[in-house]
Amino acid sequence: MDTIEKPGITPQQYEVLHGGGAEAAELAKQRLSRRRFLRRSMLAVWGVSTVASVAGALDFLYPTLSGQFGATLAVGKKSEFPAANPGQSNALKLDQAAVFHKPTARAYIIHLSKDTEFALKGSALPEEMQIQNVVKDSDGSYWIALYQKCVHLGCTVPFRDDCASFKCPCHGSHYNIDGGFLDGPAPRSLDRFQISFQGDDVMVNTGVINDRIQHPDATTRLIAQPTVQCSAGGGGASA
Ligand code: FES
Repeated sequence: MDTIEKPGITPQQYEVLHGGGAEAAELAKQRLSRRRFLRRSMLAVWGVSTVASVAGALDFLYPTLSGQFGATLAVGKKSEFPAANPGQSNALKLDQAAVFHKPTARAYIIHLSKDTEFALKGSALPEEMQIQNVVKDSDGSYWIALYQKCVHLGCTVPFRDDCASFKCPCHGSHYNIDGGFLDGPAPRSLDRFQISFQGDDVMVNTGVINDRIQHPDATTRLIAQPTVQCSAGGGGASA
């Protein structure tokens, strides 16, 4: 009787086919690796799509502030802000000299000439200037960016040319040209933004508000109080 020739099978193939042995373990490991790879790929895809969804949601909730209030804004060239000495009260003119309203930044840009007489002397002056966001420029002049909002209840405070100061029409809070509190119900001086320069551009960071300037006293007042009287309903420019 003829014998049927069966294809030969190696011991290793036998082990693989029937379980057990190093080769089976190797195959199992490869299957495991494939499963792990697939699982990791799926996790990566899920992770990427989750990050994209979160980014989209954040973008919707917090749209870019570029060019808007809350961002750092270029408010003009230095040459557009002629400086004046606050000691010469009739030299202070809204949008012409020393005080410039920039509605986009909700700010007044104050530019005081280098011959400004400060009430403080010695090392107290630069220290207080830093606290009050007053920046000394390379030409010796001084810059401040005041938030236009009255710190009493939030009205926009107009600068009054006739008073050489800011006088709130709502309840009468009165502030010096540097934003220092003078009188009225306001609980502190006007708030400030950071002001800086990029080349010739004047930059105001409207995303950071310094709201910690208290009522000035002899140790913190920078500019002497104006000598002109300021009637409640007086004329002058308004914001
Ligand atoms: S809101 Fe300006 S004084 Fe009240």
